Parts: sequence; C-alpha cells; structure tokens
Amino acid sequence: MIQIDGVGKSFGRTKVLDGVNLRLAPGEVVSILGASGSGKSTLIRCINGLEKLDRGRISIDGFRVDDPKQLQQARRCSGTVFQLFHLYPHMTALQNVTLAPIEVLKVPRSEAEDAGRALLASVGLSGRADAYPAQLSGGQRQRVGICRALAMKPRYLLLDEVTSALDPEMTAEVLDILARLAAAGTTMLFVTHEIDFARQISTRIVFLEQGRLLADLPTAQFFAADGGLAHPRIAQFLSKMKKDHQ
Ligand SMILES: Nc1ncnc2c1ncn2[C@@H]1O[C@H](COP(=O)(O)OP(=O)(O)O)[C@@H](O)[C@H]1O
Ligand SMILES: [Mg+2]
Repeated sequence: MIQIDGVGKSFGRTKVLDGVNLRLAPGEVVSILGASGSGKSTLIRCINGLEKLDRGRISIDGFRVDDPKQLQQARRCSGTVFQLFHLYPHMTALQNVTLAPIEVLKVPRSEAEDAGRALLASVGLSGRADAYPAQLSGGQRQRVGICRALAMKPRYLLLDEVTSALDPEMTAEVLDILARLAAAGTTMLFVTHEIDFARQISTRIVFLEQGRLLADLPTAQFFAADGGLAHPRIAQFLSKMKKDHQ
C-alpha cells in the first residue's frame, strides 16, 4: 500500500501540494486528473523521494519515503515512467532495460537479458532490442521506458503523462500496453489527460486543483452527475478536455 498523509510542498511562496491524503492499495488503478500546474508531477516526484516533503508523510509498504534510512527500500517498491523519454541515449533498448536489474538487483547478465527480451517482446519490440533510443519512435521509446520500469518487478507502477508527448497513433500503442497491464492486475498510479482511457481502466479517479485533492472517488461515481461532476471545477475541467479533443 502507498500511504500519503497530509503532504505539503511549496516552491518559494507557491504552495504546490496542500494537505494531500491518498491511498493506493495493491490491485488498484488510480488516475490523477487536474489542470497543468495543479501539482500532479510534484506528487509523483514526492512518492519516489525526488522532492523533499515540507509536511506530512509518505510510506510504501511500510517504508517511509521521508526517512533517508528507508528511502532506498521504499523506492525499490515502485517503478516510474515519466512524460519525456528518460532513456540513456548511449545504451540500446535492451541495455536500458537490463541496467538496473544487473546493477541493483545483481541479476546475472544472461538471465537479465532473457527477461529483458521477453519484456520488450511483450510490448511489440522484439526486433528492436539492439536499437538505440535515437533510432526509435517516441511511442517505441515510451514502451522501452515501461519495460525498464517493469524490469525491476515493482509492486507499484507510477506513470506521469506518459503519452502527452506522443501523436495519436503512438498514444494508442502505449495505452494498449497500459490497458493490458491493468487487466493483468498491475497496481498503477496514472497521471493523465486521457480522460476516456482513465475512465476505462481506473478503479478510482482523483482530481487535483492547486495542490488540493478536490475528489477521490470510484470511477463511476466520479463521472456521475451527483458525484465528481457535481463539483463545478471538475465539470468545467472535463468539458474543456472534451472540447480540446474535438
Ligand atoms: N522545481 C520547481 N521549482 C519551482 N517551481 C516548481 C518546481 N516544480 C514545479 N514547480 C511549480 O509547481 C507547480 C506544480 O507543478 P507540477 O507538479 O509540475 O504540475 P502538473 O504536473 O500538474 O502540471 C507549478 O506551478 C510549477 O511551476
Ligand atoms: Mg506534470
């Protein structure tokens, strides 16, 4: 379980996260929606210890992210895929995927490579294992990024707008992979602007507005007229997203 309690974070005078409470239990797919600048990426970065909390606490399967002594163990539990392609440019797809298992988990190289090739094949990249990031399309790179996270066998997968830099066709490729992971029971915290997709795969939807959680509801209830939609800011956000997609 990921437990986020009373988390606050400011940059200078800007309150970016303000008393955020959230739970992610094994098997759940929780989507985080919210306008640009609402604090979504900062929340993801706090969960994997990339930002120091000003207030509150975060623990992952009992390990405190905000305790330097427990951070490594907490980090081991989750894998993150970012919006932009954070692959190592001088390494092939396979090397990107096998680096952490070999270096951190001390998996023997041949075993890590077998597992890495299987992962790449599972996202339709069996022929691209030896390609460098510059030789891959954006969609292919994001699929390698997902494999790299999965190679560490994380209990929680954190995804921060993984399709927002992609064209519609590549977006569909990546969402297809995520839908399969969700169907296979992967626990995910999913920051996205793909509202329809979020609605299909999520068990719960969370809405952030200026660093505060305005809603945390089961998906059907979030989209119900007397649920999340009853909140004017959420209704406004969803109708704007719909218009932008037409
Ligand atoms: N390292 C930083 N230094 C200063 N301000 C930041 C930093 N990171 C994010 N912010 C600010 O925090 C707010 C929330 O950013 P972010 O978490 O990236 O939002 P989102 O991912 O929802 O678009 C924005 O106003 C952004 O400019
Ligand atoms: Mg962001």
